[in-house]
Formats: sequence, structure tokens, C-alpha cells
Amino acid sequence: MSQPESVVPLIGIHDLALATSHYALPLTSLADHHGIDPAKFSHGIGQDVMSVLGPDEDIVTMAAEATGRILERNGTEGIRTLLFATESGIDQSKSAGVYVHQLVGLPQQVRVVELKQACYSATAALQFAVGLIARDPSQKVLVVASDVARYDLGSSGESTQGAAAAAMLVQADPALLAVENPAGVFTEDVMDFWRPNYRTTALVDGKGSIRAYLNAIGGAWEDYRAQGGAELSDFASICYHQPFTKMAAKAHRHLAVLSGGNPTPDEVAAYLADTMSYNRLIGNSYTASVYVALASLLDHHDGDLTGARVGLASYGSGSVAEFFGGIVQPGYRARLRAEEHAAMIESRVTLDHTAYEVLHKTTLPEDGREYLTARETARPFRFAGLGDHQRRYERTLG
Ligand code: CAA
Repeated sequence: MSQPESVVPLIGIHDLALATSHYALPLTSLADHHGIDPAKFSHGIGQDVMSVLGPDEDIVTMAAEATGRILERNGTEGIRTLLFATESGIDQSKSAGVYVHQLVGLPQQVRVVELKQACYSATAALQFAVGLIARDPSQKVLVVASDVARYDLGSSGESTQGAAAAAMLVQADPALLAVENPAGVFTEDVMDFWRPNYRTTALVDGKGSIRAYLNAIGGAWEDYRAQGGAELSDFASICYHQPFTKMAAKAHRHLAVLSGGNPTPDEVAAYLADTMSYNRLIGNSYTASVYVALASLLDHHDGDLTGARVGLASYGSGSVAEFFGGIVQPGYRARLRAEEHAAMIESRVTLDHTAYEVLHKTTLPEDGREYLTARETARPFRFAGLGDHQRRYERTLG
């Protein structure tokens, strides 16, 4: 017996909320401290400020804040899956998403799992969410990306740190962005950036990581085109993974050259400017970064993007890359959180360099003893401390 032809609805991002840390460090402080020309950071790598976690913040507290805001607006009905994407896992076994599930009061009838592949895993989570919803369009999926980018003090990566979470409600008939088929993908085993289980800071081959990013994004783009994907000129904008915003410019130029173009640096900068506003002020947020770029584009673009095709170019060192497109949905402007995002970034407390170093050097005990974190964050959730090798979280009044 032949099956009736099924009509797959539009599926994609219905709501997108960001969260970041309580503290921030202007990169001029870092430049001063190391005797570096501040223009190297503001122009050379395209970064102005980086978010710095307080002692009572981590990937769970940022993720719970972003997810909580999604639930305040949309409720929990239909949500049966939470996919937590991170490079900065806090436990070798338990998903950070389970803590978030409890903190934001999700029902028990939700599956929760954590995904990892450096800065790429949120994109895998988004594609898995689309697949689940294609099977049952009544279901909704929370995709939550949360990361803290940490490198050693004095290392070349130090200026490319940062922290943020991006929570997305993925569902049928989305209000913001309908995810298109096909997607182009690329995987290659390279050691450009990695973090062994015993380290809290990443190891990186800086210049090699730039080459690996370009090679992988180029490979994903060529696969996207081979699968019948749109031409570069069909994209109103492209949101690239932004370890630092200048990297997005390098990546866009690379795809433009692969497509037979030769844009000037000013043309590339103008094309990508709206996608970079938040990342310039937050820094690298690993797997959240490409969705921070998407929020930045939607929140900052002056004209109406309704019906426009936006590209998402995701890269996770090690390495996996993916390129896909999405169509901005009618009425999207009414769903944006531009004021909320601006207020959150503005309200961060500026650190001086000494206070930043103290925070960077703070370590957690590993012997199971009782440890209470200093009460510093003004964000809605805090990491209260450790005891019996267990992490404890609580709501604040923030
Ligand atoms: N005024 C203006 N520009 C200046 C300048 C000045 N005074 N001084 C230097 N610059 C420019 C340089 O010309 C250079 O520009 P180009 O790249 O266009 O040539 C840029 O500033 C950076 O200068 P350097 O290359 O000398 O900087 P560096 O040696 O300190 O390293 C870095 C930069 C490799 C990005 C380093 O910060 C790093 O290792 N970061 C972490 C790794 C990373 O982010 N890699 C990105 C790809 S991997 C990835 O995307 C996954 C992930 O999230 C980590």
C-alpha cells in the first residue's frame, strides 16, 4: 500500500535568547598590561571587549538564564528535548543540560543530552532538532549552546577569550528563521585547538587553527554547492563562527574567492558588520558564537530581512564544519530581543587587569571538600559551590 505523500512543514528557530557573564575586560587593559598596540586587538583581530565569568558563574548559569527567557515567553508546551552543546563541559558524565532542566523548571517528560565537538556542536544539535521535528511537527526542541573560551594568561589566545550562551527554541512554523536543506559538511582530523580532560584552558596552534578553519569552511561550502545549495550572491548575509570577528572576514573572503569573486576588505567588512556587533563585545563563545552572530544580524540590521536567505557557517576545531542557509520569516522583528541583549551586554561590570588575573587564576578544589563561591553575579542564576564532588546551583534575585 502506498503511503500518502507527507508535507514537511517549515522548521527552524522560533526564538533566540543570549546570556553572558557578570564581568567584562576591555582589551585596551590587556594591551596596556602586555605593552601591545591596542589597534592589534581592535583592528588586527576585531575585538573590543571580552566577557569574563565571575567566580559564581559557569556554562550552566548562562545557559539557564538564556533558556529561562525563552520559557518565560513561550512556555514549556510541546518541548520534549533539550540538546546542550558545549566545549566547556563541567562533568565527564552528567549533561550540563540536566542542571539547566531543573533550574528553569522543565517537565520531567523531556530528554536531555550534551553534545561536544569544539565550537561546532550547537549546529549539529540544531540539525538533530530539525530531524526530530520533521518526524513529529507537534514537538519542540530547546537547543542550548553555552561556552567559556579560556586560554593561558600571556598566551597568544588570551585576547580571544569570552563567554556566552545562546538558547534557541526550534519548532515547526518558526517565527525567526526556517532552516533550509541542503547542508554542506566537512570533517578532518587536525590538532589545531584541543583541551585534554585535565586542563581548564585550551591548547591551540594559533596560525594553524586559522588555516584549518578556512580549509574546513571551504570544504563545507564546496559540499553545500555540490548538494545543490544556493550561490554566494543569493545570501543577504552570512553568520560565521567568530573566535574573533576578523576571522569571519577571512572566512568570507575565502568563500568569495572560491566562488570566483575578489571583494575588497571594506566590502567584506560592510557585508558582515551586522553579524559582528555582539561578538566584538563578548569575545569568543565557542559553540554559541555563530548563533550570537545570528542574533546580532537580526537585532542590528536596519532594513527588513523578511524572505532573505542568511547563511550559517559553523566551525569546530579538530575539526568539523557545516554550511547551511535559512530564510528569515515574516514578522520576525516583533520577536527580536535587541533591547534585552543590549542591556545585558551594557550591564556587565568592567574589571581592571589585576581583578581579571585573580579571577583567571581561581581554581576549584578537587578533593570533595565543601567550597562556597563568592557571591558576585547579578545574573539570575549562580554556581553556589561544591561539596561531596557535586556542583550546586541556585537562583539569585537578579
Ligand atoms: N594594528 C593593526 N593590526 C595589527 C597590529 C596593529 N598594531 N598588530 C598586528 N596586527 C594584525 C596582524 O597583521 C594580524 O592580521 P592578519 O591576521 O590579517 O595578518 C592580526 O593583527 C593578528 O596578529 P598576529 O597574527 O601577530 O596575532 P597573534 O600571533 O597574537 O595571534 C591568533 C592571533 C592566532 C588569532 C591568536 O589570538 C590565537 O591563537 N587565538 C586562539 C585561536 C583562534 O581563535 N583560532 C581561530 C581559528 S580556530 C576556531 O575558530 C575555533 C575556536 O573558536 C578556537
